[in-house]
Parts: sequence; structure tokens; C-alpha cells
Amino acid sequence: MTILLEAKEVVKDFGGLRAVDHCSIAVERGSICGLIGPNGAGKTTLFDLLTGFYKPNSGTVLFKDKRIDALEPHQICLQGLVRTFQIARELKNMTLLENMLLAPKGQYGEHLGYSIARPPKVLARERENLDRALGILEIVGLNHLKNEAAVNLSGGQRKMLEVARALMTDPEMLLLDEPTAGATFEETRKLMSYIEDLRKDHGLTFLIVEHKMEVIMNLCDRIFVMNNGRKLTEGTPREVQRNPQVIEAYLGA
Ligand SMILES: Nc1ncnc2c1ncn2[C@@H]1O[C@H](COP(=O)(O)OP(=O)(O)O)[C@@H](O)[C@H]1O
Ligand SMILES: [Mg+2]
Repeated sequence: MTILLEAKEVVKDFGGLRAVDHCSIAVERGSICGLIGPNGAGKTTLFDLLTGFYKPNSGTVLFKDKRIDALEPHQICLQGLVRTFQIARELKNMTLLENMLLAPKGQYGEHLGYSIARPPKVLARERENLDRALGILEIVGLNHLKNEAAVNLSGGQRKMLEVARALMTDPEMLLLDEPTAGATFEETRKLMSYIEDLRKDHGLTFLIVEHKMEVIMNLCDRIFVMNNGRKLTEGTPREVQRNPQVIEAYLGA
């Protein structure tokens, strides 16, 4: 068992409010893990701490055994740990393919002058990016919509495009914050099967915040439960489901 991502006793305060309170989690490489808890439990803030959007007040975050808690989001992305990117308003009028090609990380071509005389290396890189974008759209079932404007996507398709854009950065691990929000039953089912395929065929590791219990319980190997900034418990879906504290945290909320 290899731990890919580990948070140790991380704390995040917003003024007088402790949003994340000595929280520790360890995600095994190749696993699909869930992060659940009532609204305001600190799930999104923990994601922000894991991906460099916030720095912890104390505690450490390790990815591939190296500390990342002092790094910036783009540096963490280069290490292979990526969260989904919301499709910004200005991107919604662009096609899916254009959205894919604008995903971050190591692109040549924007450098001044390249648009006039493109060196062969740049052309080869562009070709590579295009092939990669088309391949990923195929994997997530959006290939037939590649020339469609993102604004015309359904809620579930938009979520899938967010995952697809994150895949453009060639991650080892993806953090998904409510990937099935706004998705229909059928889209949710598809999203789940794409996530399983990405783990199986590409060895990707996942940490997923999700409110739909049937998604979490069917998809995840291990679940972390947060409440009031703390980790309430963790375990297999069965273990977590039967835990009286978990039931109480949800019913009490
Ligand atoms: N930027 C912020 N400034 C102040 N308080 C925040 C900020 N972000 C989150 N919080 C607070 O931190 C707590 C945890 O929020 P959050 O991480 O968004 O919870 P969850 O994602 O589990 O619903 C909440 O009480 C929320 O109001
Ligand atoms: Mg949240």
C-alpha cells in the first residue's frame, strides 16, 4: 500500500472561525476516496489546503512523500495533483475543443512571435495537444460535441468537461468537488463509470466530495467523514454507513 496524498493535522482559521481543525487523511495510490460531511463541515476548505489555494495555519500536506503545503496551485498541478476547474463565464462561448486547448500547464505557442513563425517544436507540440484533447474527449464521451459551444452543454456534461480539462494537465490524482451536482440520473451513472475507467485504465487516484450517497457508497474504496472542521471518522462505505456518529451528524444537520 502506497500513500499518494497525505494531510497531517492541518488547521485553517478564518479570523475566529476554525474551518479545518487538525484534520488528517491519507489517500492510497489508485484508490477512489470520498469526502463527506454536512454543509460547512470544511470539505471545500480542506480541498483548498490540499491544492495550495490556502496555506494551512499549521500541519503538513505530502504528495508523493514530498511536502507541498508551501507550494502554489500551479506548482502542485505540475506535481500531478489537480482539482477540477470550473468553466469560467468567458469560456462558455468557446467550443469544447477550444476549452480543452486552453487548459493549463506547459503550453508553448503563447509566447510573442510564435504566432508569426512557429518553430517545428511548437507545431509538433500543438499537434500533440490536439490529439490529446480529442483522446480525452473520447474517453469522457464528449467527442461528438467537440465543436459545440460549452454554454450549450447540460449540467452533467459541463461537469464532465471540467474533469476533461483537468485531465489535459496529465494528473496522477484528481480532486473533484461535487462532480455530479446538476447532473441527471443517467449522467451521474455515466460520470461514475468514467471515473472507474480512469482509475482502471490510467491508474488515476481520486478524492471526491459528493452529496449523493449512492454515488459515494458505490464508487469509493474509503470514505472520510468531516464535521465541524474535524475528521469524524473514516472507513469503508459499509463501516461509515453503520457508524452512529455519522448518522447523528447527518440527522443533526
Ligand atoms: N473564505 C472564507 N472566509 C471565511 N469563512 C469561510 C471561508 N470559506 C469557508 N468559510 C467557512 O468555513 C467553514 C467550512 O466551509 P467549507 O469548507 O466551504 O465547508 P463545506 O465545503 O464542507 O460545505 C464554514 O463555516 C464556512 O462558512
Ligand atoms: Mg463545499
